[in-house]
Amino acid sequence: MVSRAKGAPVEVTTVVVPDPGPGEAVVRIQACGVCHTDLHYREGGINDEYPFLLGHEAAGIVETVGDGVTDVAPGDFVVLNWRAVCGDCRACRKGRPWYCFNTHNATQKMTLTDGTELTPALGIGAFVEKTLVHAGQCTKVDPAARPAAVGLLGCGVMAGIGAAINTGGVTRGDSVAVIGCGGVGDGAVVGAALAGATTIIAIDTDDRKLEWARRFGATHTINARGTDVVAAVQELTGGHGADVVVEAVGRPETYKQAFYARDLAGTVVLVGVPTPEMTIELPLLDVFGRGGALKSSWYGDCLPTRDFPMLTELYLQGRVDLDAFVTEEIALDDVEAAFDRMHTGGVLRSVVIF
Ligand SMILES: NC(=O)c1ccc[n+]([C@@H]2O[C@H](COP(=O)([O-])OP(=O)(O)OC[C@H]3O[C@@H](n4cnc5c(N)ncnc54)[C@H](O)[C@@H]3O)[C@@H](O)[C@H]2O)c1
Ligand SMILES: [Zn+2]
Ligand SMILES: [Zn+2]
Repeated sequence: MVSRAKGAPVEVTTVVVPDPGPGEAVVRIQACGVCHTDLHYREGGINDEYPFLLGHEAAGIVETVGDGVTDVAPGDFVVLNWRAVCGDCRACRKGRPWYCFNTHNATQKMTLTDGTELTPALGIGAFVEKTLVHAGQCTKVDPAARPAAVGLLGCGVMAGIGAAINTGGVTRGDSVAVIGCGGVGDGAVVGAALAGATTIIAIDTDDRKLEWARRFGATHTINARGTDVVAAVQELTGGHGADVVVEAVGRPETYKQAFYARDLAGTVVLVGVPTPEMTIELPLLDVFGRGGALKSSWYGDCLPTRDFPMLTELYLQGRVDLDAFVTEEIALDDVEAAFDRMHTGGVLRSVVIF
């Protein structure tokens, strides 16, 4: 599934996948979710390195590996990740590998049949029957798990869970508000519930999304349409605001709501991805006077080797309902329509099944 030009509909075409070189692996994709970031790529919101091979929330079976690959072998069931840590950059050397600034991707390029090199979304590119990645991008998980469900740990759901737990540091007894309850925001709701938050406020403009957020553990919901979101959050938190507010939309107006809807010394976590033209203005005195922390969450500050097997285990124990994120299973040629449904609100995640 390739995006050739800004805003143009995506199309199914033939992709040439090289045999894996040293440190690389070819993975047969079983399932790949449609994430809002794929749409950002198609619309030129990430960069202009067209053509893109979209898709990056995937699970599959390792088919072949290149020289020197020891961590995974053909036949392994894996979730693909976009944080294959290098172990050697300044972040890794400081013991903060979840910030790794030099993550591994495949060295070789996948191409169109005319030789045009493809840019794989987030270094993965998984709306395709087989993809080429760095072996470190393959995280082994329990093969008893459903591919469509655990594949979502590869991006959005992990980003949301980690935004709450890892970046936001949500803990027992906290109040948490989540603005935007798509796959990422509901991941944050799940994370807040897992961590023991007692008040979890889900905010969206779509009532269906709010109903789903309740299923994931939201204790209160706010429809942002025509509502003063900040006042509504304050009202539900004893007049103070939430300890942690997760912004999972990626827009200046919702960021401002997050900023003012948190309690003094609270934490704002921006996990939604803004586009290059967006700016924000805030009184510096409010930034100082309200204290706390303004953080961004890249991929939920996750470590795939630590977090994917753990969350898969919780899923198999019935404690994290990853199945509930899969609204529909679709075919590869339905991705463009799935982008539309993302906007009209009918789905949480559409997952392409191969
Ligand atoms: N930081 C990361 O590592 C990371 C990873 C994956 C995705 N993302 C980003 O997270 C964001 C959400 O992704 P998603 O896949 O969940 O998208 P999505 O489209 O499924 O969900 C977005 C939700 O926000 C709601 N919304 C829109 N405007 C709103 C408003 N003004 N107030 C309240 N709610 C509003 C929509 O109704 C929808 O439910 C995107 O920007 C995506 O690019 C970030
Ligand atoms: Zn590193
Ligand atoms: Zn994503």
